[in-house]
Amino acid sequence: MAFLLSNLIDEIVMAPPFDQSSPSQLETILLEQISAEGPIPFSKFMETCLYHPAYGYYMANRQRIGRDGDFFTSSSVHALFGQLIAKQIHQMWEILERPANFVIAEQGAGTGHLALDLLNAFETDFPDFYDSMQYCLIEISVDNRCRQTQLLLKHQGCVRWCQRNELAGMVGCYLSNELVDAFPVHLVEKHNGQLQEVFVTATDGSFQEVLKEPSSAELAQYLNWVGVELVDGNRAEINLSAPLWIRDVANLLQRGFVLTIDYGYLAHELFAPWRTGGTLMCYFQHTSSENPYLRIGEQDITAHVDFSALIKAGEERGLHQLFYGDQCKFLLGLGFVDALLKAQVEEQDPHRAQALRLTLKNLILPDGGMGEIFKVLIQGKGVGHQDLLCARSLRELAGPAGAFM
Ligand SMILES: C[S@@+](CC[C@H](N)C(=O)[O-])C[C@H]1O[C@@H](n2cnc3c(N)ncnc32)[C@H](O)[C@@H]1O
Repeated sequence: MAFLLSNLIDEIVMAPPFDQSSPSQLETILLEQISAEGPIPFSKFMETCLYHPAYGYYMANRQRIGRDGDFFTSSSVHALFGQLIAKQIHQMWEILERPANFVIAEQGAGTGHLALDLLNAFETDFPDFYDSMQYCLIEISVDNRCRQTQLLLKHQGCVRWCQRNELAGMVGCYLSNELVDAFPVHLVEKHNGQLQEVFVTATDGSFQEVLKEPSSAELAQYLNWVGVELVDGNRAEINLSAPLWIRDVANLLQRGFVLTIDYGYLAHELFAPWRTGGTLMCYFQHTSSENPYLRIGEQDITAHVDFSALIKAGEERGLHQLFYGDQCKFLLGLGFVDALLKAQVEEQDPHRAQALRLTLKNLILPDGGMGEIFKVLIQGKGVGHQDLLCARSLRELAGPAGAFM
């Protein structure tokens, strides 16, 4: 996901009518699969909806991100997001003593806007770094890969696409923004003290949920491992791919950093007793719903990330937590306020300057805004303890920050 147009502009956006009368090709594929195999775990259903090679939401040729898509991501809000992250990555390079083989690996780059903003910022502000680093994109979707290729033409000399295993032994920074929330999740519920899993079945051509014994003992083990117990009657999502992913990233990295940005919480907040229905959400043309059985393959399906799992699994593989905080703190530490004031001064037209200010403030808004829901986790391997730029408090930053707040 993550942010809807209605969060970003003062305008009510109505979902256009959607023709549900005849099943889509993807719906037919899922119905046939259920008819052949019986009920399938929700994770399998979600995986097919998002990643079916021909009709999956992320695989088909469609505009997903931005005003003409289904949701905004921080990188699609404004280039300032990437410009500030560029400062943090540059500092990482310096911490590693400017290695000649520094790699920035970005997984799940969507349209490629974060990569573009980072590369533009490196080229302008840190030309020696720009000349020595390599930018590698890891992308599951051929459609997104085409979009990235077109957008990054200007930087083709230092950009390449690769498979994760080609990064073995990398020195640098492994980056992702809203990747982990797009991994398929298992849905679980607890009833009478027993953990059960949501499976998807079909009756008369429409999808229905049934509760069954968990498809894997790993689901109960996961909850034990992150130290939470689901409250009776509650539903939650379990992303078994997330800890596997971070362990794999840790193994690839010889020395360096993992920078993960996504919306989510630590386990005790994510699985809190009051969160009765979980966090699964669907996004379509800037409207949200909790119903994944609508618009099969046409809408995004996501769930909040359990950052405890990323921290814990990373530690098991030698990744040490260097920073964990909300996006607001992260961006303020990187000089958001000064950058905002500078951008406003550069804008001559007062109306446009005001619009710019409102747009940029979205990146740091608290109380359910991007600044609070989004978290940033930075882990390091073989780099010791470091004072990262993003961890600076407003007091440590010179400038008129106080005036803005
Ligand atoms: C919500 S989008 C994030 C877009 C982008 N990072 C941004 O800031 O706008 C999720 C991205 O992750 C990609 N993706 C999902 N699973 C992936 C995987 N296992 N490997 C590589 N890319 C993946 C999707 O194709 C898409 O590009």
